[in-house]
Amino acid sequence: MFATTTLRLATRSRSTAAAMSTARRGLQVLHTVEAVRAVRGATRANGQTLALVPTMGALHDGHLALMATAKQHADVVASSIFVNPAQFAPHEDLDQYPRTLPADVTALTEQGVVSAVFAPTAAEMYPSGITTNVAEQRGTFVSVAGLSHQLEGEIRPHFFRGVATVVAKLLGAVQPDVVVFGQKDAQQCVVVRRMITDLLLPVTMIVAPTVREADGLAMSSRNRYLSPAERAVAPALSAGLLAAQTAFEQGEKRRDALLAIVDRELRAVDTKGEVKVEYVSIASATDLAEVSGEIGPDGAIMSAAVRLGSTRLIDNVLLGTTL
Ligand code: PAF
Repeated sequence: MFATTTLRLATRSRSTAAAMSTARRGLQVLHTVEAVRAVRGATRANGQTLALVPTMGALHDGHLALMATAKQHADVVASSIFVNPAQFAPHEDLDQYPRTLPADVTALTEQGVVSAVFAPTAAEMYPSGITTNVAEQRGTFVSVAGLSHQLEGEIRPHFFRGVATVVAKLLGAVQPDVVVFGQKDAQQCVVVRRMITDLLLPVTMIVAPTVREADGLAMSSRNRYLSPAERAVAPALSAGLLAAQTAFEQGEKRRDALLAIVDRELRAVDTKGEVKVEYVSIASATDLAEVSGEIGPDGAIMSAAVRLGSTRLIDNVLLGTTL
C-alpha cells in the first residue's frame, strides 16, 4: 500500500515537473487526463488560476476571441479540442466534422494566449466506450431536463445530453476555475449553466459575445461548408436578428412585431428564398419558455436556425438579458 502510494506520488511529481518545464517552452499539447491534471496541479502550485475554453477544433477568429476573453478572467488559459461523438446523431456529420489539430495548434501558438491544449482520444474521454446510437450507449451521461428538448434539441434530440456530458467530463478532467463559452450557442450556454448550478460544480462560467464577419454572419466552423452563392445570402440571418435587436432597444417589445422584422430583413437579403427557416424563437433565458405577447423586464433570447443548402446555421441576439 505504502509502496503504491509512493510510486503514485513520484509519478505525479514527475509529470508535474514535465508539465512545468514544457510550459516554459510554449504551448503544450496533452492527450491524457493525467497530463492535463499535471498542468492543472502546476498552475495551482504557482498560485495561478486556470480558465478552460472547450472547443471541437477547426478554430477560427471567434474561438480566438474566446481565448482572449478567458485570459481576462484567469492567469493561465487551456483549451480543449475534442470532437465529441455523444453530441452527434448517427446520421449527422461526425465523420466529416473538420479535424485540424496541427492548424489549430499553429493558430493558438501564434495568438500566444493559450498555454495548454487538451486533445484527448474518445477512449480517454469515454472509458466505457462511446457510440452515437443512444440505445447502445453504456456508462454515465448527463441530461439537463427541461432545457434540452426544445429549439436545437427538437431538431437534434440527443445533442445537449452529449454536450452536458462532455462538458462535465472536461470540467472533471481539467478542473478549471473559469470556463468560457460563446454566446453564439445560446441554448448550450443555458444548458451548461444549469448543469454547473445543479451539479454544484466549483467553476465560474463566462459567456463571451458572438464574433461576426464584416457582413454580420456569426463565425462558425460550419461556415466553411457554404458554397460562394450560399455564403452571399448567409448574412440574411444575422441581418434579421440584428434589426430586431435594434428595434427592441428602440422600444419595440411585441413578440409578433419583432418576428415580423426578422422575416422582413431576412427576405430583403435573401431575395431568391434560398434560406429555409427552421425556427425563430423569442424565449426566456432562464427556462427557454417562449415569450407570448410582450417581452417583460427579464428580457429574452431571440434565436433562429436556418438551412442553406445542406448547411445549418444558428444565431441569436439578446433582448435585455444576459446568459
Ligand atoms: O460548442 C462546442 O464547440 C461544443 O459543443 C463543446 C462545448 C466544445 C462540447 O463539445
